[in-house]
Amino acid sequence: MLKGRSLIDPMDFSTEELDEIFDLAHLIKNNPEEYSQICKGRILATLFYEPSTRTRFSFEAAMLRLGGNVIGFSEPNSSSVSKGESISDTIRVVSCYADVVAMRHPKEGAPKIAAMYSDIPVINAGDGGHQHPTQTLTDLFTIKLVRKSLSNITIGVCGDLKFGRTVHSLIKAMSRYENVKFVMISPKELKVPEYIINEVLEKNNIQYEEAEKLEDVMEKLDILYMTRVQKERFFNEEDYIRLKDSYILDAEKMKLAKKDMFVLHPLPRVNEIAYEVDDDPRAYYFKQAKNGMYVRMALMAKQLGVR
Ligand code: NCD
Repeated sequence: MLKGRSLIDPMDFSTEELDEIFDLAHLIKNNPEEYSQICKGRILATLFYEPSTRTRFSFEAAMLRLGGNVIGFSEPNSSSVSKGESISDTIRVVSCYADVVAMRHPKEGAPKIAAMYSDIPVINAGDGGHQHPTQTLTDLFTIKLVRKSLSNITIGVCGDLKFGRTVHSLIKAMSRYENVKFVMISPKELKVPEYIINEVLEKNNIQYEEAEKLEDVMEKLDILYMTRVQKERFFNEEDYIRLKDSYILDAEKMKLAKKDMFVLHPLPRVNEIAYEVDDDPRAYYFKQAKNGMYVRMALMAKQLGVR
């Protein structure tokens, strides 16, 4: 039962529960009209303490397309947060007004605290460099769509693996499927955190390798997951400038890839995928973004227990 449950970490739901969400997302995607009023009278609150376009719009569009309504802020300075209100108080009040909350916060763990004080389901829409479970639902749904299965797959994750929360969540979630291999491509300074290596990859006996050059590993990948260097999490500008263009996927590099290797990216893209790649049929990131909306529709419908 997903009704009433919060989603803070990608492992909060079992793989069967994820399948339930993906099945509903499929139905909605194929027949949106039929679901256009199922959340009539329901309210989503979006509490965004950190900038976002895609994720917030995706949540808002999702609720509106289910016939519900949306309240919230995208700029904490325009709310009582700027007066010093704590997360626990904000959430207690918001849960009097809304039926489900999506929260993004620069501090790791903030949505988890919120869920402890909330009477309604809380969805982590990204907490610092930590996790981003609804992006992961989007990624898994998309991978399943293009490959028919989440097992037997080699996934390259490339870019800022240190601060990129989407990568942390993706690795965690994919660790539950069979015969998944990871190729982690990053500069030395932006390697995946130790805790992911030890507590997720090593612990579950998952095959992985680390690489510094995309060209060296391109041909073995089934999925290439590109990410942006997370400027806002750097302590100094110089490091960011030095590392920001470490990887640029272009048409030349795409020639090294399998004919059916799909390219994903949580977006926003900065420089890491050249625009020329957009015309390649294997470039899947904009379709992935659209899938994100259907998956969020399915997630909220399940959490609200509507049919
Ligand atoms: C990602 C995020 O916020 O972590 N964006 C998103 O939600 N689609 C990735 C990023 O900001 O680089």
